Amino acid sequence: MKPACLSIEAVAEMKKAGEKITVLTAYDASMTQHLEAAGVEVILVGDSLGMVVQGHDSTLPVSVDDMIYHCRMVARARTHALLIVDMPYHSYTCADDARTNAQRLMQEGSADMVKLEGAGAVVEAIKAIIAEGIPVCGHLGLLPQSIEELGGYKVQGREQAAAEKMLADALELQLAGVSMLVLECIPSTLGKRISEAVSIPTIGIGAGADCDGQVLVLYDLLGLTPGKRPKFSKDFLSEMEKGKGITEAVSAYVEAVKKGTFPAPEHGFK
Ligand code: KIV
Repeated sequence: MKPACLSIEAVAEMKKAGEKITVLTAYDASMTQHLEAAGVEVILVGDSLGMVVQGHDSTLPVSVDDMIYHCRMVARARTHALLIVDMPYHSYTCADDARTNAQRLMQEGSADMVKLEGAGAVVEAIKAIIAEGIPVCGHLGLLPQSIEELGGYKVQGREQAAAEKMLADALELQLAGVSMLVLECIPSTLGKRISEAVSIPTIGIGAGADCDGQVLVLYDLLGLTPGKRPKFSKDFLSEMEKGKGITEAVSAYVEAVKKGTFPAPEHGFK
């Protein structure tokens, strides 16, 4: 980690202090400069790049080499943000692969932390990575890498049993040593419940305003994503007055998350 960058401990302190954490995805150096200028605290090199940059219809084709390529570009431009990189599909199917690929993402990609989707069978891989001294961010709810099993991009955890299971998974991930947890596309009430139950920061995307922080795919925030935008996102750039650009749109997102005005109830799920 660069000395001037935000530490994982500092992000954890923000949860304790009740200060909302701002997270956005970035995939290249120029966009990273806008995020840094706007004061985004955590940057995620998400495997969503497979869809928004590479043009695939899911994140499944993304490789470890792809993630390293994009993470290096972001790492060159970041000055203050904590840098998380996604471990792509099939890069952590066993503990050995998880360890090797996480080490590559840290060394070659210059990330500060890796993110993995799921719990249960994935916990062994998570423990193997943490045992190497590599910090891990978990990801529960809608898991884009499991889109085939989930049968599409649907809200998760609506039924009581599924909600209880997700809460148990979150506690299991915390016990395994994860430092942060992304919650995607779940009822806002469940986002609140999980955020109160764990001591690690939760970062929501379609998980309600009570998560400790928020993340969006940058292309959604800038209105670059063609077609229908996800309900949980907001095109901040389109709301900018004439003469304002990307940095101002990202600043508006940061301000809205800090003030608690984004996400609004209409961005959440029941
Ligand atoms: O890949 C990604 O961009 C993500 C976010 C949606 C959280 O995982």
